[in-house]
Amino acid sequence: TGQYQNLIVDKKGQNQNVGFIQLNRPKALNALCDELMVELTQAVTDFENDGNVGCIVITGSEKAFAAGADIKEMQKRDFSQAYDENFTAAWTKVAECKKPIIAAVNGYALGGGNELAMMCDIIYAGEKAKFGQPEIKLGTIPGAGGTQRLTQSIGKSKAMEMVLTGNPINAEDAEKAGLVSKVFPVEQLVDEAIKLGETISAQSKLVSAMCKEAVSASFEMSLREGLHFEKRTFHATFATHDRMAGMTAFIEKRPADFKDK
Ligand code: CAA
Repeated sequence: TGQYQNLIVDKKGQNQNVGFIQLNRPKALNALCDELMVELTQAVTDFENDGNVGCIVITGSEKAFAAGADIKEMQKRDFSQAYDENFTAAWTKVAECKKPIIAAVNGYALGGGNELAMMCDIIYAGEKAKFGQPEIKLGTIPGAGGTQRLTQSIGKSKAMEMVLTGNPINAEDAEKAGLVSKVFPVEQLVDEAIKLGETISAQSKLVSAMCKEAVSASFEMSLREGLHFEKRTFHATFATHDRMAGMTAFIEKRPADFKDK
């Protein structure tokens, strides 16, 4: 944590195998300023490279997961700057991480905040969470995946309504729409996300990365290509230690001893 101005970074879980990143810029409701995103990229990269970590949890505060890109920073940008920097392109580390990432969303997940949550693999929400893409009200459009990932997640009609009105949806509606997988009381949310992280971390880290890669491929490929990719990846698990360990343990009626190779 010492190295970060805008994050609290820690390891959680009984075996300290869940990487924990809390966005911590309370004065701006965790608005995603450049410095915060550089730090987040660093923290995710460090956990990705940490052999003990099997899953990452990203959360914010009870009031805000993140209220979006930093409007005060953005306000002065002109087109050529946005274009030259390829503004928001540097955020994609979260989406590209090999290890599973859980977003634990309490409070506001707006604009870039909702887009950040959607870059994660699983979203858990607190009862008072609000998900929205309010960019239209600022005279701009979602710029970090909102028009694409939200549409893939909840379908055209709901995504269009959210993006065109800027009005947020609550946790219950987000669960119904499939944007989030579970809703918890506010104060239990982070613990539940860590528990899920522990469950995932108990599996083979090699095979969970293969799983994530295959599910993620479904968003990029035709069904035919995706099924081919899945089949080959499935076949590849037969070259791993952990596939043999898992099946042998089942047959011998004991827990598997995965070695992440
Ligand atoms: N950027 C910069 N500062 C922000 C911010 C943001 N996105 N969101 C909140 N803040 C700051 C506020 O300016 C305020 O700071 P001051 O005390 O210095 O005035 C502080 O956080 C607290 O915010 P509020 O007083 O507004 O708190 P509230 O409880 O009354 O309202 C809120 C909460 C509804 C979330 C409101 O803050 C809000 O609407 N925020 C902006 C949400 C938004 O439009 N996000 C989209 C950004 S665009 C984007 O993300 C582009 C993209 O796709 C990449």
